[in-house]
Amino acid sequence: MSVPIISFRAALKVFPAAGKRPEVRAVDGVTFDILAGEIFGVIGHSGAGKSTLVRLINALEKPTAGSVIVDGIDLGGLSESKLRPMRAGIGMIFQQFNLLQSRTVAGNVAYPLEVAGWPRARRRKRVAELLEYVGLSDKAKARPRQLSGGQRQRVGIARALAASPRILLADEATSALDPETTRDVLELLKRINRELGVTVVVITHAMSLVRHVCDRVAVMAEGKIAEIGDTYSVFTSPSAEVTKRLVETALSDRPSASMLERLRTQHPGRLITVGVHDNAAPASVSPSAEIFGLLRQYNVDATVIYGTITEIGERPFGSLTIEITSDPGNLSAIDRAVNALAAIAPVADHGAVIAALPTFTGRQLLSGLPAAPAIYTPSGEEPQ
Ligand SMILES: Nc1ncnc2c1ncn2[C@@H]1O[C@H](COP(=O)(O)OP(=O)(O)OP(=O)(O)O)[C@@H](O)[C@H]1O
Ligand SMILES: [Mg+2]
Repeated sequence: MSVPIISFRAALKVFPAAGKRPEVRAVDGVTFDILAGEIFGVIGHSGAGKSTLVRLINALEKPTAGSVIVDGIDLGGLSESKLRPMRAGIGMIFQQFNLLQSRTVAGNVAYPLEVAGWPRARRRKRVAELLEYVGLSDKAKARPRQLSGGQRQRVGIARALAASPRILLADEATSALDPETTRDVLELLKRINRELGVTVVVITHAMSLVRHVCDRVAVMAEGKIAEIGDTYSVFTSPSAEVTKRLVETALSDRPSASMLERLRTQHPGRLITVGVHDNAAPASVSPSAEIFGLLRQYNVDATVIYGTITEIGERPFGSLTIEITSDPGNLSAIDRAVNALAAIAPVADHGAVIAALPTFTGRQLLSGLPAAPAIYTPSGEEPQ
């Protein structure tokens, strides 16, 4: 699993200036490996250079400098005739499916095999096998326009797999699909990876896609690799600003400032947002059980008012915004509980509407407060 199948070495792709358009460093000196047998994600905003990066892998673009090595061979040194068999080992699927409308489903899947000169009988057998694999045997004679988007993409996948490639590139392959169909297509890519041992490179600007399927991800920004790592680490502890923003929009698990304001009008107690991940908890305990178990020890009341817990690579991850209240006689327990929690998980402390807020009078008290109540935090700082 740890043998590189695709290696970028200081790979640079510059599109020269043309007319008024300035020069673009679409891929700006990247060095990293994609390993054989993994599902690798490349994410980043529009224009980050993702498509150019994949086009370097199948040599649709040549690097301006540096090298791209696929299966041990430096593509830069190959002539066009040597590149052809190399490309046959790399399947590609596209956002717009790129199917031939004049051909049947079977005819589309057979196309690359015809180009490669496979005899008719062998071709037929292979096409039947592939359609069976992607669950479209009954659509062999249909035309692409008679299919749903998800079915069309499965034809695209069958076609990409026709010549048994070792690498499958998927550039925004699910961007035109609804969420449920997207999930089906991603499951199929996972199955292809697991059962056929194909290395899959998923390119997307939607971070939410990679968390279900990718073993590792690279985050691209302005042609560079801003961050690279296993999917769980990149999600749970993003270091680059661009990754932090992508993670936030992907999960929507943290309330925005305006949401927080709205939540406050109903929840005058101490509000905190706790990161939920399994880095701290023992394997046998779920992280949320760990959080609430700890709060119980301090005899405080805790209510979840916002949040999401989801899975990344089958491990729990998300965040919970919690309102903590206590009996009037036990208010200092709230501070102690928050401090103890901060020792085992990332905590953002949003403070409380007022310092001393007994649970049972919370609502009444709030209704008597001025429009913009002072927010209490133990350090006396303005909460974020
Ligand atoms: N053939 C080309 N000629 C000139 N500039 C190009 C060419 N192809 C891409 N670029 C530029 O290179 C940069 C990266 O483009 P690229 O298509 O790789 O981005 P991307 O990350 O795939 O974006 P998107 O998410 O929108 O698909 C952009 O600024 C783009 O305008
Ligand atoms: Mg692109």
